[in-house]
Amino acid sequence: MPTQFDVVVIGAGPAGYVAAIRAAQLGLKTACVEEWQTLKGEYVLGGTCLNVGCIPSKAMLESSEHFEAATSKLVDHGITITGASFDLAKMLARKDAIVGKMTKGIDYLFRKNKVTWLKGHGRLGPRNEDGWQIIVGEASVAARFVIIATGSKARPLPGVTVDQQLVCDNIGALAFETVPKRLGVIGAGVIGLELGSVWRRLGANVTILEALPTFLAAADEAIAKEAWKLFTSHADLTIKLSAKIKAVTIGASSVSVQYTHEGAEHQLECDRLIVSIGRIPNTDNLDAEAVGLKLEGRGFIDVDEHCRTNLPNVYAVGDVVRGPMLAHKGSEEGVMVAEAIAGQKGHVNLNTIPWVIYTSPEIAWVGKSERELNEAGIPYRVGVFPFTANGRAQGQDETDGFIKMLAHANTDEILGVHIVNSHASELIAEAVVAMEFRASAEDIARIVHAHPTLSEVMHEAALGTLGRALHI
Ligand code: FAD
Ligand code: NAI
Repeated sequence: MPTQFDVVVIGAGPAGYVAAIRAAQLGLKTACVEEWQTLKGEYVLGGTCLNVGCIPSKAMLESSEHFEAATSKLVDHGITITGASFDLAKMLARKDAIVGKMTKGIDYLFRKNKVTWLKGHGRLGPRNEDGWQIIVGEASVAARFVIIATGSKARPLPGVTVDQQLVCDNIGALAFETVPKRLGVIGAGVIGLELGSVWRRLGANVTILEALPTFLAAADEAIAKEAWKLFTSHADLTIKLSAKIKAVTIGASSVSVQYTHEGAEHQLECDRLIVSIGRIPNTDNLDAEAVGLKLEGRGFIDVDEHCRTNLPNVYAVGDVVRGPMLAHKGSEEGVMVAEAIAGQKGHVNLNTIPWVIYTSPEIAWVGKSERELNEAGIPYRVGVFPFTANGRAQGQDETDGFIKMLAHANTDEILGVHIVNSHASELIAEAVVAMEFRASAEDIARIVHAHPTLSEVMHEAALGTLGRALHI
């Protein structure tokens, strides 16, 4: 008889491992299936986020920003560092050590919470009186409830082979052993911008080719415009919009990309190419069709607002379902589902999921953009305050960008907050809390914000929606 679990989670990324921990906390006998192996063949937890996503990319962002500060930014503070250099191998080793620490941390949390880790590939089997059969390699276990959290992988560009040497997706692009002199990137989305700027700061000449005519189409227009201005002011970062890729030819040590742009044929010669054109859900070899699991047109598992699939007692969370492909969105869905299985009630408000793009400066937003409000016919007021008018930002020499707040014209409820600033990732939290509590702009305007802090810009943006900003 197969081992019986209350809950089996398939996938141990931030959606799956959090769901497993929460289910175990609630007293459910829980197992989590995970197949990810390092190059050395060691099984690891944490999924895309910990192994080849959020965590390693932010480690590299930080290192490259320190280098840029040492070579150029500190000069304005009266600090000159001559002969600054970096050791890329050490930088990569630091990143790998952080990843190792974090993935082992999940292993520790599994043991602490008594989550059984089933190592290997998981597939859905039939349901019988013991529950759903989950096949892991040669073995099988039974589960009363199943949570599918199999995540996503890089979307391939037809006809282009990713060898993780010359042509890379996010996996190879986080591990270049030398800084490419000429780096090509296909796709000016989040990965292209974040990883493109890491390698630019370390000395690469970066050209990003984007198919769409608009830059950062998902962001508020004013934010995208400001970001465009700031990013393209670097001589060594070129972004070409409306670029149509015709062919990618891989040579012995370089890659040639043929594309059309502004009606002319072009050729981009680069030492490395990153393909970052979005991600697709991981439902391969899951036997979804065999058990009748309903998928949407683009391959995502079809779920309702509570992450229930069409199959009884089978849920799906994270990148493998609709909504933004963000770690924190997946984790919150994992918690919601574990609590629902334990008989509690929960929900995830997709309207208050914060977005952060870790470029320099950073971009962050929550809620609606002006375009979305206009499309929905919702009347709103706008408050915009620039960091250049903020004392702390001046002291930090980080005056780029602004905060823009959008509040309902009649009720004053905050509908969206959009930030460009080097600390946008931290500043957005106040806006998320405010929106979850359905605060009005006046609430933020009346709350005392410490001086001198960057948070005063949020305060002033709120005052701005009421037409009474103080320092501008
Ligand atoms: P994943 O993290 O993809 O995990 C799914 C897991 O399931 C994997 O470990 C996989 O091995 C396993 N699996 C799949 N199928 C099976 C199977 N059949 N059997 C066993 N195991 C299986 N998001 C942010 O919020 N902030 C960031 O800063 C950020 N940075 C990113 C940077 C990069 C370069 C990338 C690529 C992504 C980034 N993301 C970021 C997105 C974030 O990584 C994903 O949204 C998040 O990892 C999704 O979590 P998940 O648990 O749904 O899936
Ligand atoms: P993306 O969806 O952010 O951007 C892909 C870009 O590629 C788009 O601008 C698209 O128009 C363009 N594109 C598509 N096909 C193209 C083609 N043939 N030629 C040229 N351009 C083309 O996807 P990306 O950057 O791959 O990231 C995937 C996801 O991972 C993100 O959407 C996000 O959910 C997540 N992520 C989140 C991060 C964060 O939270 N900071 C960081 C990195 C990734």
